[in-house]
Amino acid sequence: MSAFATEHVLSVRHWNDTLFSFTTTRDDSLRFENGQFVMIGLEVNGKPLMRAYSIASPNYSETLEFFSIKVQDGPLTSRLQHLKEGDPLLVSRKPTGTLVLSDLKPAKNLYYLSTGTGLAPFMSLIQDPEAYEQYEKIILVHGVRTVSELAYTDFIQKELPHNEFFGEEVQKKLIYYPTVTREPFRNQGRLTDLFESGKLESDIGLPPLNPETDRAMLCGSPAMLKDTCAMLDARGFQVSKRIGQPGDYVIERAFVEK
Ligand code: A2P
Repeated sequence: MSAFATEHVLSVRHWNDTLFSFTTTRDDSLRFENGQFVMIGLEVNGKPLMRAYSIASPNYSETLEFFSIKVQDGPLTSRLQHLKEGDPLLVSRKPTGTLVLSDLKPAKNLYYLSTGTGLAPFMSLIQDPEAYEQYEKIILVHGVRTVSELAYTDFIQKELPHNEFFGEEVQKKLIYYPTVTREPFRNQGRLTDLFESGKLESDIGLPPLNPETDRAMLCGSPAMLKDTCAMLDARGFQVSKRIGQPGDYVIERAFVEK
């Protein structure tokens, strides 16, 4: 069996000039945990050109979804952004990754902290019914530069709370906190600054981040991860050092160089 399955594109959505998402068919044998990533790509000059992508769809979905930036001279995204319904897409058969619920010690609240396309693994995780069973509150923070980069807001705010199986849990437990840095918006500023000042917690009505009660999953640029880890470490949070060893928080770099 080849290392890659050939899937087919079912739909493509362009959010703005720099971001798009798409869905594909899913091989029956593909199993993954919500929050994990796979390698996806295209055959270019007879060879697979592959990059890591978080799976944005939940693991019970019959289709796969991915969320991507468009880089005009990016070897893969310059091509991926032209995907159309019916086009083939290679998907690796071995999902992996650190953003899994099982690598967090039990606690009360779970923070999903993302910037840019780092939102992708959390789109899968916010559709995981187990997360709502394990936590009292789940807080999804998405930091972006411009309002147009706030992808999936309608799904998060309008569709998910009406999910026929766990919509009520979403209504009770999920807090969505989008924040924009380079344009006016109801929430403004970098998430690190919003935690430093205490504004984020006070806006959502929760106490300051505390390793006794809170857990976090991080996905963003290397700079965002560095600063957010420093903020959590200063508050006494312990990172999960490797897959299978639970901690107070887990991190994954958003896969941006495409
Ligand atoms: P800013 O506009 O102040 O740079 P990017 O597209 O560069 O990955 O940025 C996505 C979002 O993440 C932007 O809102 C950006 O804010 C923010 N950001 C960039 N670096 C950091 C950081 N070190 N800590 C927290 N947020 C960051």
